[in-house]
Amino acid sequence: MTDVQSSHSLKTRNSWKTVRSLLRRIRSNPIKHQRRSSQVIEGVGKGSISTSEGSVALSVAEFPVPQVQKALVVARKGEYEIRHDFPIPTVGDDEVMIRSHYVGLNPIDWKSVDFNFCLPEFPWVTGREMSGVVAQVGKNVSGYREGERVWTSTYYKDVRAGCFQEFVVVPSHTVLPIPSTVSFEAASCLGVAALTAGMSLWKWLGVPLPSATTDTSEEQWLLIWGGSTVTGQFATQFAVHSGLKVITVNSSETKALSEALGASHVVVRDGKSNEALVEEIRTITSGRITRAIDLVGTKTAALALDAVSTDAPVAFAPLAMMSGSQVVPENVTVHTVEMKQFVLDKSNVCYTEELGKLLGSGKVVLPELHLIEGGLEVVQDGLDMLKKGNMKGKKLVVRM
Ligand SMILES: NC(=O)c1ccc[n+]([C@@H]2O[C@H](COP(=O)([O-])OP(=O)(O)OC[C@H]3O[C@@H](n4cnc5c(N)ncnc54)[C@H](OP(=O)(O)O)[C@@H]3O)[C@@H](O)[C@H]2O)c1
Repeated sequence: MTDVQSSHSLKTRNSWKTVRSLLRRIRSNPIKHQRRSSQVIEGVGKGSISTSEGSVALSVAEFPVPQVQKALVVARKGEYEIRHDFPIPTVGDDEVMIRSHYVGLNPIDWKSVDFNFCLPEFPWVTGREMSGVVAQVGKNVSGYREGERVWTSTYYKDVRAGCFQEFVVVPSHTVLPIPSTVSFEAASCLGVAALTAGMSLWKWLGVPLPSATTDTSEEQWLLIWGGSTVTGQFATQFAVHSGLKVITVNSSETKALSEALGASHVVVRDGKSNEALVEEIRTITSGRITRAIDLVGTKTAALALDAVSTDAPVAFAPLAMMSGSQVVPENVTVHTVEMKQFVLDKSNVCYTEELGKLLGSGKVVLPELHLIEGGLEVVQDGLDMLKKGNMKGKKLVVRM
């Protein structure tokens, strides 16, 4: 990664530094702002956490929007650069500008750069989810105050919405308040994993909304291959709140995690053949799984198809891809989960409303966070950690 810095941007940066140091002095509590490489926030799962920053109310007057900003851009195929003079995105009439405080990292962030997809042109800004404060609102936008803490989930096609920049502009219906039960940093991981879990179940797999669930007498099974993935953790809980029985596939190290989140059975995959895994799932559920999500890849998507009911109608969402040559049994409907629909179709706010209710009730256990300090400069390191795939259920979040 290179660091491209003009003299103009240095001035801007220095004035930002002044604003930041002033703000630090205004804060009465002793925030530790020195750069630590990373920190695991324990106990997030018990509801909310509060950090020192979490208790400071920021006002926009303290953070005037500058002329240019810092951004981590994909400058060309497979190459990142830090730019200090990246343009501040303009705000349309129905849009909101958010000053980023935390960004959540996701597998799609490194996959799209490594395999060169979802990058309409260069330079481009990636990053799909964040939490921050409202910095500006368009003239048609009501219901948001400047300085309010919010989270969002973005669509890659708009460079202004890429989260790896200081100021992000998104349509107003995609800007959500942070429930009091959710910390500022944890709110940055709602935009991809939590929203995908909710919309996959409620919109695509036909699972009733928890708030509309009345009759749970009929036993209905959901299979989640990859129960410890951050998306799987949310999906497990949401399904349980809708009265479903959940069976997950995990490593032995994350078995207890999925059990604690409400899974009725966790199949430990260590040392077992694919046939043994499928057999165990079919035995436990008596072959009656009617909904399934795969969160691992094409091979496990195929195994999931082997594990579901062979006669009842089955809804399946292969969230981590399915091979184009995969043979799908006649009783199975494969659903392509398109999270862009959240941005493109305003009617999907019903799912964020449901998510808000569930989170606000304090009944959702949030993933344990692995927080990395250091802003945009450390995003690439975080993505490298994610690529290794051994997060064991923890969510990587970068403090901006
Ligand atoms: N279509 C969409 O819009 C969408 C949205 C969200 C996510 N996704 C995709 O869904 C996948 C999961 O994303 P995420 O961010 O939730 O993942 P994540 O949290 O990064 O998942 C990491 C976990 O996967 C588990 N895992 C690895 N190999 C496994 C296997 N063979 N069987 C079962 N579990 C395994 C590991 O835990 P163990 O120790 O338990 O093995 C690891 O801790 C990614 O491929 C992502 O691109 C798609």
